[in-house]
Amino acid sequence: MNETLPMDEKYRVGLARYRQEYKESLENPESFWKEKAKIIDWFSPFDKVLDDSKKPFYRWFINGKTNMSYNCLDRYANNEKRNKVAYIWVPEKGEEKVVTYYGLYRRVNAFAKALLNLGIKKGDGVTIYLPMILEAPIAMLACARIGAVFNVVFSGFGEEALAQRIDDSNSKTVITADGGFRKGKIIELKKIVDAAIDLSKGVDNVIVVKNANNKINMESGRDYYYDQILEDGYVKPEELDSSDPLFILYTSGTTGKPKGIVHGNGGYPVWVANTLKWGFNPKDEDRWWCAADIGWITGHSYIVFAPLLLGMTSIMYEGAIDYPKPDRMWDIIERYGVNILYTSPTAIRLLMKYGEKYPLSHDLSSLKTLGTVGEPINPAAWHWYYDVIGKSRCPIIDTYWQTETGGFTIAPSAHLGLPDLKPGSATFPMPGIDPVIYGDDGKEVKDGEKGYIVLRKPWPGLMLTVNRDEKRYMDVYFSKFPEQYLMGDYAIKDKDGYYWLLGRSDEVLKVSGHRIGTIEVEDELVAMKEVAEAAVFGKPDTVKGDTIIAFVTLKDGYEKSVEVINSIKKRVRADLGPIMVPEEIHIVDAVPKTRSGKIMRRVIKAVYLNQLPGDISTLENEASVEEIKKAVEIIKKEEGD
Ligand code: PRX
Repeated sequence: MNETLPMDEKYRVGLARYRQEYKESLENPESFWKEKAKIIDWFSPFDKVLDDSKKPFYRWFINGKTNMSYNCLDRYANNEKRNKVAYIWVPEKGEEKVVTYYGLYRRVNAFAKALLNLGIKKGDGVTIYLPMILEAPIAMLACARIGAVFNVVFSGFGEEALAQRIDDSNSKTVITADGGFRKGKIIELKKIVDAAIDLSKGVDNVIVVKNANNKINMESGRDYYYDQILEDGYVKPEELDSSDPLFILYTSGTTGKPKGIVHGNGGYPVWVANTLKWGFNPKDEDRWWCAADIGWITGHSYIVFAPLLLGMTSIMYEGAIDYPKPDRMWDIIERYGVNILYTSPTAIRLLMKYGEKYPLSHDLSSLKTLGTVGEPINPAAWHWYYDVIGKSRCPIIDTYWQTETGGFTIAPSAHLGLPDLKPGSATFPMPGIDPVIYGDDGKEVKDGEKGYIVLRKPWPGLMLTVNRDEKRYMDVYFSKFPEQYLMGDYAIKDKDGYYWLLGRSDEVLKVSGHRIGTIEVEDELVAMKEVAEAAVFGKPDTVKGDTIIAFVTLKDGYEKSVEVINSIKKRVRADLGPIMVPEEIHIVDAVPKTRSGKIMRRVIKAVYLNQLPGDISTLENEASVEEIKKAVEIIKKEEGD
């Protein structure tokens, strides 16, 4: 944990500048952010930087009017940058497509016009359920242009998860595709949309991009083909208030219902553009590849918005990073001369397992900087990334942040000055971020001690609220330590001031970097006719971070069988999506519960992982622990067979 890797002199020159800017950002936030807000254009200037009169509902750049689509497109499409490449889109199979800033501007305008023609206007909810195709950023930017509040749903989610998001975001329009590709297979997206609409309160319009050419049903009067409704021309960008919502993105928490995180039109763009610049120091000629999915916040902030706000050229890749062969990622880097690669520890660990021969068979010399996001990176994976992929020349920007924070909160800054890196540490806070580590008693812990990471001051990228649930916003984030933002992770600050992130402090798992609420899966399981009770927890996995394990009891009349388990898994897949399916489901006769009836997930997990179960004095039925122990013995024995 204490290994330090001195950075090349060329990166070190600016460390004093980092310290200066950081200090300035906390001591004089008004003047600091007034200057940094110039990274975007404002139709009318803001008259105040921060309004904290209704804290913790902080509002930034008060009365400023702006538009995300204008800032991403019009600023470049109408000058010498118009022919600069915005995206090189790489499909899972076949030829890449290149779109320039001007080309993107034209396409976004044409789609914005189509949306207006359908009667969609400022403030309306629009759900976007698309694979990783260019129409995804086009749809997001077209909504942003007219002020419609979009909600992108990851195309790996199932029909119930989609229906819930359509309803919660009050979407009367869904933008989807006939199908998407995943490792050569077609995912029938339109079919899932049809099923989701049946479960939802209903929608007025479904816009369908022809992509996989699979057979679909089109409902007349409701469903339209995307390319048939486009209308060339110019749509004036709406002059939106800084605090008008830009999008809602759902993320898992500690209850069954996902939280609709709302980001706004002013603070969010200022935050994502500045943090990308600070973290990665992109140059005009660089090719940036953020290998995430647009359905997650990483894709929103760092495939779509920040790179376009900075006028960068991005690679956007449709498929899986190890398909058709394990060298896919390295092949793309070589083929397109990628300079900055931003990916997840899960991806690194997966590719590391395939071995060095794959990266070594490609010329990766275009790479200058590497980044990671999504989960703590273990030092072994860090080293492989640094030594084998970056040839010990490329600093690793380990970015710690979350859906709610909009952009990076803790990360080394290649722009302001890199500290010496310590493999596994995200290093220091970005300007404006004021972290502290508290114990349960709300007192700051000593350096080197584990506690909750909390941000003491607001920053422009902080969400506006949780959609239709202000109480949840306050309860989840601002109540454990009043008026301070609880990130929900454990962390340590070492004696040199470096932050080490240690994973979630709540009932949330990280499965391949995806955030999954154990209770969300439990709620799904207990809604099934066979299942009486369910306990879900994470089992550490060397590649995925966590895998999902479920212990369930059955209702009377149902017998334990492989068929029951398979049928439960099948329904989780259809309702919530493949990423939410437990890797193992174990049927037992009883689960340990407290006397008040709460399932003691922690006890089951401990027995399963062969750890000490901790305090079980509140346990209602000790026999159930024995039952779990017996079940685990049988599972282990079966595994050994
Ligand atoms: O637990 C932290 C982990 O991912 C959580 C946020 O998940 P999500 O909202 O889905 O956003 C993921 C992309 C930003 C955090 O609470 N996490 C994210 N990045 C890191 C991390 N944990 C350790 N190190 C990181 N770099």
